[in-house]
Amino acid sequence: MSTLSTASGQARRGRNSKPDPRSRATFPNGFLWGTATSSYQIEGAVNEDGRGPSIWDSFAHTPGKISDRSSGDTATDHYHRYKEDIQLMKALGTRAYRFSIAWPRVFPEGTGAANPKGLDFYNRLVDELLANGIQPFATLYHWDLPQTMQDRFGGWTSRDTPKAFADYAAHVTSRLSDRVRHFFTINECSRHVYLGHREGADAPGLKLSPAGVNQVRHHIALGHGMAVQAIRTSARAGTKVGPAENAVSCIPAVETPENIRAAEIAMRELNAGYLTVMMEGKYTEAFLAQAGKDAPKFTAEDLRIISAPVDFVGLNVYTPDHYVLAADNERGFALAPFPASFPRMKAGWLRPGPEVIYWVPRHVAGLWNVKSIYITENGTSGSDQPAPDGNVYDTDRIMYLRNYLTQLQRATSQGVPVSGYFLWSLMDNFEWGDGFEQRFGVYHVDFDTGRRTPKLSASFYRETIARNAVA
Ligand code: NOJ
Repeated sequence: MSTLSTASGQARRGRNSKPDPRSRATFPNGFLWGTATSSYQIEGAVNEDGRGPSIWDSFAHTPGKISDRSSGDTATDHYHRYKEDIQLMKALGTRAYRFSIAWPRVFPEGTGAANPKGLDFYNRLVDELLANGIQPFATLYHWDLPQTMQDRFGGWTSRDTPKAFADYAAHVTSRLSDRVRHFFTINECSRHVYLGHREGADAPGLKLSPAGVNQVRHHIALGHGMAVQAIRTSARAGTKVGPAENAVSCIPAVETPENIRAAEIAMRELNAGYLTVMMEGKYTEAFLAQAGKDAPKFTAEDLRIISAPVDFVGLNVYTPDHYVLAADNERGFALAPFPASFPRMKAGWLRPGPEVIYWVPRHVAGLWNVKSIYITENGTSGSDQPAPDGNVYDTDRIMYLRNYLTQLQRATSQGVPVSGYFLWSLMDNFEWGDGFEQRFGVYHVDFDTGRRTPKLSASFYRETIARNAVA
């Protein structure tokens, strides 16, 4: 800093006052700080204790599907190291943990006889979390469909799968809800539909016709609704449930009232097959018109089930999908193209646009009068190579998190009802088609030895949690 700027700064603040970084705006009292993971990405132990194969086992073992030819066979070996991993959470000061339950551990065949040893693992995990003062938040489905469901019914192309999912949800929640008070139904319906059933880049690797994709989308939304209903009757009274969706995110390009309104309209339209139908119990006219003859086949009863009331909405927030401008057209909005120079994080799809974590919860609360929102995922990958001294100086992740959390604090300070934040991810893990090449953790994992090492961002997150304000 130059002498000049130091001197003028002192003049403004008075001789002895120094800026105190700890006096920054805080998050609400009781704001819940956590981390997130999912079963196939961390557990490993794919053949242990009676687990059946999932569509991700088959997909990962199909040549050419995973960029580094890896699989989740061992992943971070969390199945055996969960106690150590809970200590990592504790060291951060987190009070909540979002994990997912592997359906094929609990029902190896998807339906039929349960495998008690499968649920035992989650019993042990939950007990250990609670013993360490960490609240468990469980996702029921993070894409690892039992392979037999795919083979027998065609997976989500069939209406049998939502029904089986609801039965599984009832089974799990009736046994865990004495200790797990919050459940998420399905993680990121939209990615599961798009990459799994349209692009073939995720399991089950299908490239369906537009009509087929729309039907899968409908069945997945139906699975969400049927699970919500099943939980209401099977779980302990007061158990809370909601989706964990990666909504198509729409940001006003310039924050004028007209653009804000246009971004809201875009948000509702572009999420018509997911959050909009879940919240409103109907497909928008524009969605049905655009789908035309390829529109999903559904009944009025389906829509009633899909929109079963939820207790909160979980939002996975990473990257802005659209910067929106008001427009004098039929839709009432226009989408600005991304310039080639827009920055990217290590994962090429991840454009850092921190204001997305302000706008998405604000739109969701405003459009559908949602009273409780969790940020169920947010984070970034980085190159994360240990320096010669062994430390990982992931200042790009710190930059990213600092900017996003500043925008999240902007939201909470304005009364947007965000109750908690789950950083993706606790530790590096199996990043689907990118294998182990994209590291998202605040703990570095050596995938040869399994050794966990805190990155610099772990200190940033610990400090933020301790202050309840962006560090
Ligand atoms: C969202 C998914 O839920 C999670 O499984 C994935 O690892 C992260 N995005 C990062 O891509």
